[in-house]
Amino acid sequence: MVETEAMNEAEIQCGEKLSVVTGAFGYTGRHIARKLLERGCRVRTLTNRPGQANPFAAPLEISPLDFNNPAALRTALRGADTLFNTYWIRFEHGGAHFERTVERLRVLLRAAREAGVRRIVHLSITNPSLDSLLPYFRGKAQVEQALRESEVSYSILRPTVIFGDGGILINNIAWLLRRFPFFAVPGDGQYRLQPVFVEDLADLAVESAAHDQNAIVDAVGPDIFTFDELVRTIANAIHVRSRILHAPPAAVLALSKLLRLPLGDVLLTREEIGGLMKGLLVSSAPPTCHTRLTNWLALHADSAGRHYLSELDLHYRRR
Ligand SMILES: NC(=O)c1ccc[n+]([C@@H]2O[C@H](COP(=O)([O-])OP(=O)(O)OC[C@H]3O[C@@H](n4cnc5c(N)ncnc54)[C@H](OP(=O)(O)O)[C@@H]3O)[C@@H](O)[C@H]2O)c1
Repeated sequence: MVETEAMNEAEIQCGEKLSVVTGAFGYTGRHIARKLLERGCRVRTLTNRPGQANPFAAPLEISPLDFNNPAALRTALRGADTLFNTYWIRFEHGGAHFERTVERLRVLLRAAREAGVRRIVHLSITNPSLDSLLPYFRGKAQVEQALRESEVSYSILRPTVIFGDGGILINNIAWLLRRFPFFAVPGDGQYRLQPVFVEDLADLAVESAAHDQNAIVDAVGPDIFTFDELVRTIANAIHVRSRILHAPPAAVLALSKLLRLPLGDVLLTREEIGGLMKGLLVSSAPPTCHTRLTNWLALHADSAGRHYLSELDLHYRRR
């Protein structure tokens, strides 16, 4: 079922209701938490970095996201009206594995049900599939299945590539375009993406918490780009003349591996190239979010890609 009715602003004021957000110091979680706090909600985050200072202008309750301690998770979730889940890994590295991530989310969902949470708003991905050969998309489908079976009211939001303040993919494409005379695109570059603005996604998340009926919604913006068009759009917006070259996916992966050492990061994975080239980051449903990437880029032409954003710095090194 798809949520279609427009929300009345008054319906999404949450007063003293407690909302729990996994990853409020992260990317999407930060925007969701800020929007909840602005509406006067009580917000608690479950995070891997419980020692981090509260970056918001309002009080934030902070608890560890400790999957080895379901009792502590239950305690942290008790009394919560809604759990907003953003927890996931981008790729397998170090001790992080997709299968383990799915298991961890089963623990979290169970804890939410046992704690009496009314509603779970869960961030997934467009076109997840239990049959997918890509562990990211398969794992997302497994978590969605677990959520559907959890007996808690849910809203599953399926975003594509998320852009906005703190977004890695668009920023790092801009960073590469600023630094290199050419940009290597895997394959023919004709596969499509439908980027979504992080603030629109956060609004959708907050609005969908107010409902009771189960919903699965693609969280997608108004424009569909081929990957070539996306790269050209970013290059034009930041006023650089990098040449777009097409290369076999294995060659692009090898090039990205050459940058691993100087960047100290995993720029791109085989899986991510696979997901891109299979055209999984578009929706067949009408757009649910309105902000255009081109408008956002026009406002951030000077800052986009000035600094490289490292996934390993964000999610691995400090552990
Ligand atoms: N970013 C995109 O373009 C995109 C596209 C499609 C779907 N999504 C989905 O949208 C959701 C939010 O994405 P996001 O980019 O906003 O995520 P994020 O902020 O980078 O991470 C979200 C959460 O996952 C935790 N996390 C991330 N990587 C981890 C790792 N390697 N080990 C342990 N914990 C890790 C973070 O922990 P901390 O508590 O340490 O912050 C945080 O709780 C995810 O479910 C993602 O799959 C994102």
